[in-house]
Amino acid sequence: MSQQTRKPIRWGMVGGGRGSQIGTIHRNAALRDNVFALVAGAFDIDPERGRAFGLELGLDADRAYSDYKAMIKGEAERPDGIEAISIATPNNTHYEITRLALENGLHVICEKPLCFSVQEAEELLTLSRSKDLIVGVTYGYAGHQMIEQARAMVRNGDLGEIRVVNLAFAHGFHSEAVEEKNPATRWRVDPAFAGPSYVLGDIGTHPLFLAEAILDHMKIKRLMCVRQSFVKSRAPLEDNAITLMEYDNGAIANVWSSAINAGSMHGQRIRIVGSKASIEWWDEQPNQLRYEIQGEPARIFERGMGYLYPQALIDDRIGGGHPEGLFEAWANLYRRFAARMQPHDHAAPSDISNLIFPDIEAGLEGVRWVENCVRSANAGGIWVDYR
Ligand code: NAI
Repeated sequence: MSQQTRKPIRWGMVGGGRGSQIGTIHRNAALRDNVFALVAGAFDIDPERGRAFGLELGLDADRAYSDYKAMIKGEAERPDGIEAISIATPNNTHYEITRLALENGLHVICEKPLCFSVQEAEELLTLSRSKDLIVGVTYGYAGHQMIEQARAMVRNGDLGEIRVVNLAFAHGFHSEAVEEKNPATRWRVDPAFAGPSYVLGDIGTHPLFLAEAILDHMKIKRLMCVRQSFVKSRAPLEDNAITLMEYDNGAIANVWSSAINAGSMHGQRIRIVGSKASIEWWDEQPNQLRYEIQGEPARIFERGMGYLYPQALIDDRIGGGHPEGLFEAWANLYRRFAARMQPHDHAAPSDISNLIFPDIEAGLEGVRWVENCVRSANAGGIWVDYR
């Protein structure tokens, strides 16, 4: 697809400073297709380190800010001030930064989880709608092309009626108390920074969103969840959780969210079982989608091939056989965010608008899911109604 190069959206970042886990991919994704231009930033909890990093990234000295409040205020006073902001800070700050940005007329791209409670998420949704502003949430795996293929296959009835959904995001990186030495893990197991959950919100919400996107005709009716802190010092936050979910069409799902799956690199999988066939996608091999029809040999679909549904090819950057990865998936999402923020300059005709777009409702659903999982688990693993 041709890349849009007209009038990049003036863009600022909060968080994602030097050494952060996720800052680099935000910048790579936003800048890849020239749909955003990085012109301001408050990158770090440490003001001086943040300003120095902004200068290294090439910002003008007066736009490398010491904190996000100064940035939002300073930019609002400029005729060429930022139009959009990305938030890549620890979870406890997302709500207040998103709120201030929206109040000041900025579009927002926020890290997950969007905030800590359904009530906060609904407030942000109401505010964004009243201001006619876009909030995107970086469920980055949704930008992989094979997720669009999976969605098209379900919609076209290739699987038949959906019966079972297996979801997992279960890595092994925190099977020991690595937080004793690693600050980026330390805040994740502290409720003051991470919120009411660790792995449910940090990783379980990723496959949950993939399921929402692929199975958008199905709604969760009720769920039950159990959660454990295998590294005891993490209590009350869990490092492992298992959730069962019933959908309104009678389908059943399970979600394994874990940071203690020793030996696993990433372990994010989605398997969807229908009455005729099943599909399976694994984020460690994101260019392939497994398609199994009952009674036939399994097939492996490859990204970029002409036999895929057209919507799986819209974001193609290079022909099949060349591996694409998470950076491309995120760039695909950033382009869709831009298309929603400034449709006149960035919407590619017909195509992008039908692709997956993790918006504020996706952010709200993630928060709702975590809230319900925690409610169920804290009551001893009982079924709870979802809405
Ligand atoms: P990190 O701890 O590695 O980095 C956080 C960065 O934010 C640091 O540069 C820190 O100095 C800065 N910061 C903290 N408070 C700030 C403030 N008030 N103002 C400005 N900067 C501030 O954290 P990491 O792993 O990068 O996570 C950040 C967010 O991204 C979290 O919400 C996390 O859940 C999310 N995340 C999302 C991923 C995804 O796949 N979408 C993957 C990894 C993280």
